[in-house]
Amino acid sequence: MTAFQTKNSVAFVTGTNRERGIGRAVVRALLKRGARKVYATARDTSQLVDLVREGEGRVVAVALDVTDERAIAALGERFADVNLVVNNAGLFGNPAPLGDASAAAQEMRVNYTAPMLITQSFAPILAKHPSSAVVNVNSIASFVNFPLGTTYAASKAAAHSLTQAQRRELAPAGILVVGVYPGPTDTDMADAIKLDKASPSSVAEAVLDALESGTEYVYPDPISQSWSQAHQADAKALEREVATMMFP
Ligand SMILES: NC(=O)c1ccc[n+]([C@@H]2O[C@H](COP(=O)([O-])OP(=O)(O)OC[C@H]3O[C@@H](n4cnc5c(N)ncnc54)[C@H](OP(=O)(O)O)[C@@H]3O)[C@@H](O)[C@H]2O)c1
Repeated sequence: MTAFQTKNSVAFVTGTNRERGIGRAVVRALLKRGARKVYATARDTSQLVDLVREGEGRVVAVALDVTDERAIAALGERFADVNLVVNNAGLFGNPAPLGDASAAAQEMRVNYTAPMLITQSFAPILAKHPSSAVVNVNSIASFVNFPLGTTYAASKAAAHSLTQAQRRELAPAGILVVGVYPGPTDTDMADAIKLDKASPSSVAEAVLDALESGTEYVYPDPISQSWSQAHQADAKALEREVATMMFP
């Protein structure tokens, strides 16, 4: 697939309000590589004041709850200059070993339905640009369930499947679709996990490297890389190994 030029791009990134979050790191990496404009979204835009200031005119704060389907339906028309969509917002709900129905429903809405609807909303706009891309921040848990992540991992498996479908459907319009599969990353979400963690900025740089080289799968850190290799070599052995790991 054709590489995507981040320089002069116009990006739309969800979930950018947390100082240590991957979303904010992606916004910063885009600015560093010369993006023309970044629409940075959050439920509460008062948490974006610093980021907007940092962007020196290139960051536009947008209020968005990714479960608000009406707001999502209007995104493509509202932001017609966007040629890069980064579906980053994510939720890790109540970690019940056999699952929690309410957490499962909310994780599916945020981690699966939202990237589906947001990409649908932008697809006609993206198709009009000579170069455009969608990035889905999935997880290495898309490939293997882990003890604290019963319903979270299921929603990320669904997001991986969605990514494959989007790639198939958007390829004819020349839209690059990148799936990102981080292992533990040092953000608020992973505070309880006591494994080595990648920095959010290293994940963001790996995402932009992938865009600029037309790479469809991103394994940004050592755990992500070793688990993905183990998954390809012997998925059952990886399942056994991860099932007996202690989190935290
Ligand atoms: N950290 C890891 O180890 C790890 C590993 C693999 C994949 N990931 C994925 O990486 C992505 C970023 O997560 P992170 O690690 O940076 O965690 P984070 O700091 O907790 O960020 C999650 C972001 O998603 C936003 N969000 C959640 N529900 C939302 C909603 N309904 N509407 C709008 N925004 C919503 C949060 O906003 P609020 O502050 O308003 O809740 C926050 O900005 C997620 O998709 C996550 O699943 C993380």
